[in-house]
Amino acid sequence: MLRSHHCGSLRLEDTTKKVTLCGWVQRIRDKGKVAWIDLRDRYGITQLLLEESQTAPKLFEQIRTLGREYVIRIHGEVVKRRMPNPKLPTGEIEVRLDELEVINKAKTPPFLIEDETDGLEELRMQYRYLDLRRPCMQKNLLFRQELMAKTRAYLTKNDFLEVETPLLIRSTPEGARDFVVPSRKESGHFYALPQSPQILKQLLMVAGMDRYFQFARCFRDEDLRADRQPEFTQLDCELSFMTQEEVISIFEGLVKTLFVEMKGVHLPDFRVMTYEEAMRLYGSDKPDLRFGMTFLDFTEEASMVACPLWPSPERVGGFVVKGGSRLSRKMLDKMQALVQEGTWAVDKMTYIKYGEEGIRSPLSKWYTEDILKGWGTTAGAETHDALLLIGGDKHATQEALGALRLAVIKTMEIKPSIDFAPLWVVDFPLLTWDDQTQRYHAMHHPFTAPKREDLPLLETDPSKVHSHAYDLVINGAEIGGGSLRIHDPHVQERVFAAIGIDHEKAWQQFGPLLSALQYGTPPHGGIALGWDRLCLVMQGGRSIRDYIPFPKNNAARDVMLGAPSLIPSS
Ligand code: AMO
Repeated sequence: MLRSHHCGSLRLEDTTKKVTLCGWVQRIRDKGKVAWIDLRDRYGITQLLLEESQTAPKLFEQIRTLGREYVIRIHGEVVKRRMPNPKLPTGEIEVRLDELEVINKAKTPPFLIEDETDGLEELRMQYRYLDLRRPCMQKNLLFRQELMAKTRAYLTKNDFLEVETPLLIRSTPEGARDFVVPSRKESGHFYALPQSPQILKQLLMVAGMDRYFQFARCFRDEDLRADRQPEFTQLDCELSFMTQEEVISIFEGLVKTLFVEMKGVHLPDFRVMTYEEAMRLYGSDKPDLRFGMTFLDFTEEASMVACPLWPSPERVGGFVVKGGSRLSRKMLDKMQALVQEGTWAVDKMTYIKYGEEGIRSPLSKWYTEDILKGWGTTAGAETHDALLLIGGDKHATQEALGALRLAVIKTMEIKPSIDFAPLWVVDFPLLTWDDQTQRYHAMHHPFTAPKREDLPLLETDPSKVHSHAYDLVINGAEIGGGSLRIHDPHVQERVFAAIGIDHEKAWQQFGPLLSALQYGTPPHGGIALGWDRLCLVMQGGRSIRDYIPFPKNNAARDVMLGAPSLIPSS
């Protein structure tokens, strides 16, 4: 046996036991006549003790040759510590050394292998295997694994079948570019790596699997951000013979169970909000409900006076910022820049500050003090607050206000009123118009079912068709998305036609699905939860990279392996 215990397992009741431990040297404190070593492994840290009075001088010589991150094996006796360390689970004991063996030397690591490290992100990525030795990173991977285990248990109990789908497939459009793999057997032909197993999971429903799940690796060649990786994991699920409410209820149940079992947090029933309401009140289809600051419509009030700040707006909207009268000129300029830099068709942002000394606002040139006071009263603004306002196109104004709201929360470091605010956003439009390509696109994906009552509008007024799509949002992050699917081949062809895919092209691109739809397809629907994002929102951190063992950097590069790389032609 190489070791008798882990570095995190020994307690006071183990005193007098002779133990053998293995691990990495985290720290050495050598006071001449006495020395301590912190020995670390995945399970914790155990302090080793070396005292001149009891120990052969050879051991002192030996530990003076040790360096950080050496791999050692020791033998010794568990003793009670004179000065316990309440921060460590093993803090009441230490192991008095009587033998030490160096298993492997280590070069001095390029950064501190501790939670508070001095290593910058790029360096840590290059030496990810050292970064992953840090206890906080190991904790994150453990959290991820436990979350998966509990999810497997929940879904298995609910009759879901875990099925693996292939990685070398034919392209499934999900809105991003594919990563492709050249075929050796068929020169000039390519496999695509799945952006998601969407079509395959629908085919599993045609195959009668009834309930499917998989922790699916997905690949999308898109611009990266803190919550986006080119390669990420989804908890991918699909169910047959279900209503939208039933699907939502099963996955709300899962998320609630995970919060209770992993964090001891009892989430209330999730709010349900339509897409229209989310955009109107928060200017976002993934609103962060931990903060108030909902939008109000001042279009009518603003149009009473010809004001050059908003020449002829379709919408003037705004929201109250508590304590906002202390927003400095500089902060307001920064926010103004954000609004102006955006691609939204909106006019300049403006403000009304309700200070102790009265109202301060660029609008005072055109509107009387009483009117501006009235707007504040309508909006519930009190002394020290501010009302921020934007005018422009309806949708653009909502989106610009949405971005402004998030900027205010960040700049003013507003504290959330609750820890977790989950909600379902429902009733998304089926299609969105794209000015660039001059055609409609599927808002989620083209297999999403339109609402039955809106079907007649598909050919006459496509933008008015709502879909059976739903997103799970927690704290302003889109954690999951799903929908009921089209199970009628004729409806599927009509939706393809609405997004400019004619019969021939539809069969070329989606032949297997269209064919399967003709062989007795049950009504079905599903959802995919972004696993990396769920870990991040539950546990905190700066980026989903904290929960992915070997992530890519923002340029989609694996700086540790050096991928992508050239491949020799021979
Ligand atoms: P969607 O594209 O909305 O739906 O993806 C589902 C969830 O996956 C996560 N996600 C990502 N996470 C990290 N990096 C990325 N690049 C990334 N892209 C998406 C998000 C998102 O909510 N097939 C459908 C699901 C369905 O309809 O059942 C799909 O993939 O958390």
